[in-house]
Amino acid sequence: MSVRIAPSILSADFAALGDAVAAAERGGADLIHVDVMDGHFVPNITIGVPVVKSLKRIATVPLDVHLMIEEPDRYIDAFVDAGAAMISVHVEVLPHLHRTVHAIQALGAKAGVALNPGTPVAALTEMAADVDFVLVMSVNPGFGGQTFIARSESKVREVRALLDRAGNRAPIEIDGGIDRHNVARVVAAGASIIVAGSAVFNSPDPERAARELKAAANGAAAPTPR
Ligand code: DX5
Ligand code: ZN
Repeated sequence: MSVRIAPSILSADFAALGDAVAAAERGGADLIHVDVMDGHFVPNITIGVPVVKSLKRIATVPLDVHLMIEEPDRYIDAFVDAGAAMISVHVEVLPHLHRTVHAIQALGAKAGVALNPGTPVAALTEMAADVDFVLVMSVNPGFGGQTFIARSESKVREVRALLDRAGNRAPIEIDGGIDRHNVARVVAAGASIIVAGSAVFNSPDPERAARELKAAANGAAAPTPR
């Protein structure tokens, strides 16, 4: 299966989100990653349901909504209504993870469980058969442009092994500090959904940056645009 890329609009110009999404899509984005932060679970505050709703009107690929918030159960309905096709929630804030994952699925969205760098893979053990995808954070969530934490590579391998033991083919998404130089390593470890914020949107040419990242993720040189 080919590797999907999910440019994160966190590093885009929030005054021109439509242009950012269009450029990422022209560059081959398979998903648009939307980082929702509440200023409690993480130190930063970003965007919420109304922005997802507006993005849904213009995006031609599915919206992948990463909830870095406390009490995500309160907002899941609203994000699915707004157009989220995939929702990831953090295991660190969820005493009733099983209920939350099944609630997301019952609303018709794909349910992902996200693990912070400091959270052991074992936190996922009881849910390994249930999740639609796993999001391995390769930086501490809260900000774009941070440095990839090297341990994340072996963590992806551990998550893959856990899912395989549970008979679950669910993909692993990796998020934080990914660029075209390190993407091949995380793909080799088992990641098949690649989030990238600054590597795409801090580039002077996000379309080209997305295309190059996708090519690197799939082990090829970027095709020359006509
Ligand atoms: C970090 C967010 C990421 C962020 C990644 O808290 O979850 O999705 O946008 O940005 P980069 O790719 O710049 O590390
Ligand atoms: Zn994210």
